[in-house]
Amino acid sequence: MVAGVETTRNAISHGLALLKDNPDQRERWAGDFEKYADTAVEEIVRCSTPIIQFKRTLRQDHVVGGRTLRKGEMVALYYASANRDESVFADPDVFDVARDPNPHLGYGGGGPHYCLGAHLARQELTALFRLLLSDSVAMHAAGPPLLVPSSFDNRVRSLPFGLGRCPTAPDTAPDAATFAGSGPGPDTQVPSPAAGRGSTDAGGAGCPVSG
Ligand code: HEM
Repeated sequence: MVAGVETTRNAISHGLALLKDNPDQRERWAGDFEKYADTAVEEIVRCSTPIIQFKRTLRQDHVVGGRTLRKGEMVALYYASANRDESVFADPDVFDVARDPNPHLGYGGGGPHYCLGAHLARQELTALFRLLLSDSVAMHAAGPPLLVPSSFDNRVRSLPFGLGRCPTAPDTAPDAATFAGSGPGPDTQVPSPAAGRGSTDAGGAGCPVSG
């Protein structure tokens, strides 16, 4: 059994892209890492939603939105949609490292199948970003991630990055404080929905590309 491999590393890559596109949020978090660590890590998982959807089979009748779903029917749980639910989240398209409360469903909605590794993932993401945002490392995305087309997971094929201090201007300026989109498209080179980009150009905003 393999678990928590793709999800955690995809969350890290999307997190770097989100911080690049929202330089004010990167500055805020890096300026007081521990103060924002818990909320920022949750916000990365909400915005990137590494698992887009899972299929489940109903064990009993269930009413959703006035519609009765029958025992034995299969349903798709769209975590990515739930995490942008405007009736739950104020400004759901805004990446806010201080968002609180943040009742996202990135790890599932509770119950017996809730992500077994959620606490480990939080620890891993916190430890990684503590290091990546430190002055000595200062890792930053240097361009948009390329995604693997999938309706299941929000998987990153590659992400150009740089090390050391770098101007953190977004690639495309129109709305640096938002992310948008619903999932990868048909091509193999897909702009990240987390990063809200309209280009597959892997070039950065003048940052040195190290990998
Ligand atoms: C950011 C990282 C992660 C995300 C976003 C994530 C997301 C999810 C989601 C959405 C589910 C389904 C929950 C449900 O249906 O209610 C799940 C299940 C699961 N996850 Fe994770 N996961 C992550 C990291 C990990 C890690 C690090 C591990 C283990 C080392 C792990 C182990 C599992 C297992 C074993 C299940 C199945 C639980 C069951 O069906 O009883 N996950 N995860």
